[in-house]
Amino acid sequence: MKKILEIRNLHVKFHTLGELLHAVRGVDFCLYEGETLGIVGESGCGKSATAKALVQLNSRYNCECSGEVLYQEENLLSFSEKKMQSVRGKEIGMIFQDPMTSLNPTAKIGWQIMEGYLRHFPTTPRSEGRAIAIETLKQVGIPHPEERFHTYPHTLSGGMRQRAMIALALACKPKILLADEPTTALDVTIQAQILDLLLEIQKETKATLLLITHDLSVIAKMCDRVMVMYAGQIVECATVDQLFSSPQHPYTQRLLSAIPRLNQPKERPLIPIEGAPPNLTHPLKYCGFCARCPDAMKICTLGQPPLFEVATNHTCACYKYDGTTQ
Ligand SMILES: Nc1ncnc2c1ncn2[C@@H]1O[C@H](COP(=O)(O)OP(=O)(O)OP(=O)(O)O)[C@@H](O)[C@H]1O
Ligand SMILES: [Mg+2]
Repeated sequence: MKKILEIRNLHVKFHTLGELLHAVRGVDFCLYEGETLGIVGESGCGKSATAKALVQLNSRYNCECSGEVLYQEENLLSFSEKKMQSVRGKEIGMIFQDPMTSLNPTAKIGWQIMEGYLRHFPTTPRSEGRAIAIETLKQVGIPHPEERFHTYPHTLSGGMRQRAMIALALACKPKILLADEPTTALDVTIQAQILDLLLEIQKETKATLLLITHDLSVIAKMCDRVMVMYAGQIVECATVDQLFSSPQHPYTQRLLSAIPRLNQPKERPLIPIEGAPPNLTHPLKYCGFCARCPDAMKICTLGQPPLFEVATNHTCACYKYDGTTQ
């Protein structure tokens, strides 16, 4: 498969409360054309900071990003804000968790989609822009799109608002879609509808999807490959089948055993992951999971494990794959 986006040694740091918080710590990965790559991990592990860094959307006032985000042989991190605006929406579309804060509450939804499109394709006549906006509203399953064109976001239900947000992201037919917890704010029925819609759209448009979630069932339903993040780093990367059938990192193994199952015997309780992730304002000179890991060895407290190849297309950052036993 052909690489469409390549991320090399990405670091994201935030200046916050007089300290430097190192949210993303040297992340490397690729997106391949047409695939869905999932990022999973607990709250605060750097999933959103990673996705936002790809399109320079982390707060410009307190954030430093370094590394490379290669798209069409150019490093997006070196782009000026003006140049980046021609990439956002047109080449790389974004779908965020909370449409109420991402849509403009003072503008009609059809107008927002049309304006977004005309900004990228300024020579298009307004009537054509309007027709494209209506067509996109129809594509995401919004009933009566001609009338809905004139409605404000607050008059739509949560599910319809999320559909409008997806329409906004799709209007310019971007090659890559970044979806950051697109269904977290929705109830399970609407969540299933929106996920089905995303699958359908991806099949139709052949877009590449980067899907962020902390819900492993969403990963199982949607993704081809998955990356597990912990404390700002990738600790495991595998195909979805590999991850669910043979998880290798102690953190992934514990995440999977913390999921309730319908056929779970009553007497077998769920096993929580004890402890808390490390403080990201401190430098991490050892494995970030070792304080919570029952299998930790001495070496885990001495250095950071790199990603070891455990099988084809399956890597894991744990010293047990280095042949180390102590
Ligand atoms: N603008 C900011 N200023 C300061 N710190 C920030 C900022 N944005 C994120 N952070 C911090 O960076 C770390 C990673 O945040 P991020 O939003 O990437 O987490 P996440 O994995 O997306 O979590 P969640 O699942 O809750 O969305 C967190 O400790 C967070 O508090
Ligand atoms: Mg997030």
